[in-house]
Amino acid sequence: MNKKFSIVLLGGEGIGPEVVDATALVLERLLPGVNFVRPPHGEAAQSQLGHSMPEITQKACQEGDAILFGAMWKHCAEVIRYLRWGLETYANLRPAKTRPGIKSLLKKEQAIDLLIVRENLEGEYPAREGTLKEFNSHWGEFKDALGRSLPAEGLFALRLSTEEGARRVAKIAVQQAERRNRARESGVREPKITIVTKQNVLKRTDGLFKDTVEQVIKAAGIAFDHYYVDDACRRLVSHPESFDVILTPNLFGDIMSDIAAELVGGLGIAPSGCLGDRYSYFESVHGSAPDIAGKGIANPIATLFSAQMMLEHLQLPEEAHRLEQAVQKLLLEGKILTPDLGGKATTMEVAKAIIALI
Ligand code: NAI
Ligand code: MG
Repeated sequence: MNKKFSIVLLGGEGIGPEVVDATALVLERLLPGVNFVRPPHGEAAQSQLGHSMPEITQKACQEGDAILFGAMWKHCAEVIRYLRWGLETYANLRPAKTRPGIKSLLKKEQAIDLLIVRENLEGEYPAREGTLKEFNSHWGEFKDALGRSLPAEGLFALRLSTEEGARRVAKIAVQQAERRNRARESGVREPKITIVTKQNVLKRTDGLFKDTVEQVIKAAGIAFDHYYVDDACRRLVSHPESFDVILTPNLFGDIMSDIAAELVGGLGIAPSGCLGDRYSYFESVHGSAPDIAGKGIANPIATLFSAQMMLEHLQLPEEAHRLEQAVQKLLLEGKILTPDLGGKATTMEVAKAIIALI
């Protein structure tokens, strides 16, 4: 590695800064001379600069080679909004993989190695909610699927689906299915994309999503199937080994990725990355974990595996591999683990043990 990389670190809140700091220590070992940029954000930036995601921080995110984010709680909603909608990171990749040394919740020994590709910017997010009074005053003639007007009192939430939104995330799913296939020993399995929707009820929004992504996948010549989200969740628990890539709208992907994470060892080890055409950022699946924040016992592995995804994205496969191997070795040894994995170690003890294994 000759290039000096500049990585933007946004700890966020709760356990976010704890796991990001631990990960930065490990990255220093992997990328000697790496330049970390730690721009102001969250509560501190709000009180000093009047905005929790100030312009200088937005600029730093645009200029860095990569962004690693911790988690949000009360003061970092603007940070996530910027990282997702501001930087247009429309594809959220959430892999779930069985790890030797980690006990699965499943009764049978099934080797899980799947990737959830979640549409990251549409659907129910960011919230578009209001009162039915407001809604009816603009659109009084609106009827539901049963031909009824909406009640006079109450609230609504909008769910958004666009052809362009579905097309671009489907292209990422195709690229990921192809990448995963190249990385596998030949003949192990054929690449497959499982589309997950609730198209039986949400005929138009999920119908558009399903039809559009199907076209993209068919054109790429990749095998695919489709399940409704309730059935898909059941299958995820009963036959997780049958999935390769799962492609699904925003809310379903959010929920399914927590289920998938739990099957392979929990949120403490579940990574994610959000990709767009120009920018990307990486963060664990978990949130700020207020129940354990400040105790120094958060598992940094979810963020370390997110950093592994970041290194792969930076075209540093060797460094990514070394990181994964070191974490894997630590998990197999099973001695230095945080309490969520049944151990007694602290966040920093885990990070230091991993550095020693690199
Ligand atoms: P959470 O993921 O923060 O925590 C759920 C449970 O998992 C807690 O018991 C927590 O202690 C445990 N856990 C999570 N990460 C862990 C780790 N690294 N090591 C050990 N244990 C860990 O989800 P929750 O409690 O639903 O949300 C808390 C806050 O986080 C909320 O304000 C929520 O909005 C926010 N959140 C933020 C996300 C983000 O920044 N992308 C994602 C999910 C939630
Ligand atoms: Mg979630």
